[in-house]
Amino acid sequence: EQIEKGGYPHFMLKEIYEQPQAIRDTFRGRMREHKGIIKMAGVDDHIDKFLNAKRLVILACGTSWHAGLVAEYIIEELVRVPVEVEYASEFRYRNPVIEKDDVVIAISQSGETADTMAAMKLAKEHGAFVFGVCNVVGSSISREAHAGAYTHAGPEIGVASTKAFTTQITVLTLLGLKIAKAKGKISTSDFHMHLEELRLIPEKVEEALKNNEHVRKIAEVYKDASNCLYLGRGFNFPVALEGALKLKEISYIHAEGYPAAEMKHGPIALIDEQMPVVVIATRRGHYDKIVSNIQEIKSRKGKIIAIVTKGDVTVKELADHVIEVPEVMDSMSPLLTTIPLQLLSYHIAVMLGKNVDQPRNLAKSVTVE
Ligand code: AGP
Repeated sequence: EQIEKGGYPHFMLKEIYEQPQAIRDTFRGRMREHKGIIKMAGVDDHIDKFLNAKRLVILACGTSWHAGLVAEYIIEELVRVPVEVEYASEFRYRNPVIEKDDVVIAISQSGETADTMAAMKLAKEHGAFVFGVCNVVGSSISREAHAGAYTHAGPEIGVASTKAFTTQITVLTLLGLKIAKAKGKISTSDFHMHLEELRLIPEKVEEALKNNEHVRKIAEVYKDASNCLYLGRGFNFPVALEGALKLKEISYIHAEGYPAAEMKHGPIALIDEQMPVVVIATRRGHYDKIVSNIQEIKSRKGKIIAIVTKGDVTVKELADHVIEVPEVMDSMSPLLTTIPLQLLSYHIAVMLGKNVDQPRNLAKSVTVE
């Protein structure tokens, strides 16, 4: 096992550090920049389904559901088609409305999650075309889907999903760009700009990983917290959910993720000097609004850990701690803002002596309801 960990103390840390390569492996061979195309056989073979779809329905659980939410923001923006993201466990039991011209996307790292499998079978029974996004090759969901795309993240052993999440977002970004191009919803120059931004993501993730020691020191300060709030807006709202899930599952600290603007509809009542609040406040995404959310937290004495764009000055003056990530287009920022949140949870869990790779009560594949 030590050999498999490749010198890292835990699989989770190894997998966090594998993300630059995993993301590269996910887009390699698919992005044909010189030809201005994205090659995805599972989409190319069924392009009519995607072109004629009146809506896309995404089915998933847990972290994969969070990737689905990021995809909703990306695909709606690029393709201008409605996207609904459903918890597979709810979808399968509520007699959902599914039309023949719906395209259903089932996202699952393991490809074995019972609820996701049952939900996709139900969608198939209603005549929908089902596209699978899985990491494990030959898994049940990948076999059950009409077509699909693998994430190529390599084996993910740590129960807390890390590289599966970022590679799912990568695949779904490629999918959004591809459909947008096929439908004539994106200009050639914009398409190229997106491909170029995506191509640079692995090195930017590497840069974000260089903050590891800084994040560890922040973890030291907050490891004994009983609660933690995570806030984000737009593309980074799902990242707030994912950050909170990561902290909960490996450190057992209670954490909530919220869209930042929802804070005043309830969670603001929780804020006092004992409450660490992680705010994703990158420059492009509703920056002014997030700054005013930060001011609201500060005036209630909450402790602010802000994820900011490199070179930020405004948030730096307000927050107790800032963690920088490189500049990137807004829609791709989740691929970077996720990194410090993974590291923060990891270090807190290690400091608390928790079993990081196999947290209590959790299994890697949830093959029962
Ligand atoms: C993530 O850290 C979790 N362990 C969990 O939420 C997981 O994402 C969920 O069970 C879905 O798994 P899947 O992607 O293999 O379907």
